Amino acid sequence: MDLILFGPPGAGKGTQAKILVEKLGLPQISTGDMMRAEKASGSELGQKFADYMSKGLLVPDELVLELFAQRLQKPDAQGGAIFDGFPRTIPQAEALDATLAKLGRKVDAVVALDVKLDAIVDRVTGRRVCRACGQTYHVSYSPPPPSGECISCGSTDIVQRADDTEEKVRTRNAKYHEQTLPILAHYEPTGVVKKVDGEGSVDDITGRILSALGKQ
Ligand code: AP5
Repeated sequence: MDLILFGPPGAGKGTQAKILVEKLGLPQISTGDMMRAEKASGSELGQKFADYMSKGLLVPDELVLELFAQRLQKPDAQGGAIFDGFPRTIPQAEALDATLAKLGRKVDAVVALDVKLDAIVDRVTGRRVCRACGQTYHVSYSPPPPSGECISCGSTDIVQRADDTEEKVRTRNAKYHEQTLPILAHYEPTGVVKKVDGEGSVDDITGRILSALGKQ
C-alpha cells in the first residue's frame, strides 16, 4: 500500500506515521526528517534545505524530488510506503504519481488529518524532539522523562526545532493553505481521500485512521 499522511504542520502526521509503521508494516518516508538529517551531516545540500526550513518556507521541488527518488529506490520501500510531509505541491504529487506508475503502483489512500489552527500552534510550540533518534515529545501531553533521557535511545539531546516558534508555524500554515492543500483536489476524483478528525488522543486518531483504511 502507498499511503499519504496529509495535513498541516503539527497535525500529527509524524506521530501517526511512526505508529502506522508497526501496524501496517510499511516504512515511513518523511522528507522533513531526511532534510534535517542532511543538515545535521553538515553537507552543502543540507545547508540549502536549512535556509528554507528556518524561514518556514517550502524547499524548491527540484531539491525535494531528488531526495524522494533516492529514498523510494531503497529495498524497504519496494512494497509500499507511508509518505509523511510529501507531496507538498502539485508538481510533487504529479512526480509521485509518475514514479509509482513506473513501478506498477499508485497512491492507494490519502489520509487527511483535520486539526484547527489553535490546536496546531499549541502542539508545535510544545513539541520537543530527540536529535539522536527523532522521538517526538510534547511538553504537556507526552513530556520527556524527568531524567531528561530519551525513552527510545537514552540520549539527553532533546531540543525544540528551530521552526517551531509561533511565528514560524503561522507562516508554515499559510504556505500549507497556499501550496499544499490543492493536492487534496488533485486526488479527490480518484476516490482515495479519507478525511479524518485529527483532534483527540493519539490512540483515538490511530483508530480512526485504521478504520478509514478498512484495517480494523
Ligand atoms: P516537516 O518536518 O515535514 O514538518 P511539517 O509538515 O511542518 O509537520 P510537523 O513535523 O511540524 O508536524 P507533524 O504533522 O508531523 O506533527 P507531529 O506528529 O510532530 O517539514 C519541515 C520543513 O521541511 C517544511 O516547513 C519545509 O521547509 C521542509 N519540507 C519538508 N518536506 C518538504 C517537501 N515535500 N517539500 C518542500 N519542503 C519540505 O506532532 C506535533 C506535536 O503535537 C508533537 O509535539 C506531538 O507530540 C504532538 N501531538 C501529536 N498528536 C497529538 C495529539 N493527538 N494530541 C496532542 N498532541 C499531539
